Amino acid sequence: MPDLTTNIGGLTLRNPVILASGTVGYGTEYGSLIDLSLVGAIVTKTITLNPREGNRPPRLRETPGGLLNSIGLENVGLEKFLDEKLPMAAGLETELIASIAGADAAEFADLASAVGERDEVSAVEINISCPNVKRARRPLWADPEGIGKVVRSARAATQSTLIVKLSPNVADAQSVAEAAEEAGADALVVANTLTGMRIDVDSMTPALGNVFGGLSGRALLPVNLALTWKIAGSVRLPIIGGGGIASADDALEYILAGATAVQVGTALFKDPGVAASIVHGLTERMIRKEWRTTAEYVGLARKEKEPCLAIKADS
Ligand SMILES: Cc1cc2nc3c(=O)[nH]c(=O)nc-3n(C[C@H](O)[C@H](O)[C@H](O)COP(=O)(O)O)c2cc1C
Repeated sequence: MPDLTTNIGGLTLRNPVILASGTVGYGTEYGSLIDLSLVGAIVTKTITLNPREGNRPPRLRETPGGLLNSIGLENVGLEKFLDEKLPMAAGLETELIASIAGADAAEFADLASAVGERDEVSAVEINISCPNVKRARRPLWADPEGIGKVVRSARAATQSTLIVKLSPNVADAQSVAEAAEEAGADALVVANTLTGMRIDVDSMTPALGNVFGGLSGRALLPVNLALTWKIAGSVRLPIIGGGGIASADDALEYILAGATAVQVGTALFKDPGVAASIVHGLTERMIRKEWRTTAEYVGLARKEKEPCLAIKADS
């Protein structure tokens, strides 16, 4: 059997398939629907220092090829996460990655320190990319200097593996990725949702209560795949690709572009078993191709085209 073990900045996963933040709650909600022992890790819903109710409804809207959401980081807040959610998630048979979002660098540091020291948590994912929270005109996700500050302060606050989740809503994704790398991130998620909207022509009002939402699902795949390709060529960090993955071949596209692991989100809503099918499909493909380890095919599609720094760093 091929070895699907995957290393993400010091964290070893049994395979490269991770369930994305916001699509599996705090882990326990999906225990009866998904056999978590089959996936590499899950990322819990992004938590903030204080509980948040999120945006006003409607907050979900299907669109051809995808889903628009404007949940707005509804979550239980740090205290309840530490006291109630983490102990409940302790028995889950997979690695737990805790996603956090702060209002500023100091808050990111407090959150990273608090969740990073818990035994249940294997890594911390910094969410700088939620498009559903009101911010100044220049959002954090598009500000390399601001990202540098946030990542540096979180880095100083925890020894845990630090993953930074980037946004596709940027003109220069490479500068943003490089800023996160320089500031001490261990890995990058490429990427979160893309800003979008729909209008209800009968009521002549925006379909989402928040007007704008984040586009996820199939339509996002080519966008985030291109970002993965670009960023894999400009940083040495391991990349977790994601956006629109619904099959093993989709996951493989990200890996061939340079991702070391992948995240699956929206596809779980249609078929909670999809992550296990992806792991199974990747295993079958590896057997057919006689690939013994996942590292063998990371970035394979780009090998002849341009040097993939991520591969060089691994080999
Ligand atoms: C309903 C919903 C809620 C989400 N909430 C979060 C969140 O709290 N934190 C986060 O980092 N990403 C969140 N995301 C983004 C996903 O984690 C993922 O990055 C994105 O949906 C793209 O992957 P997909 O096309 O496989 O869903 C959410 C996505 C959806 C659909």
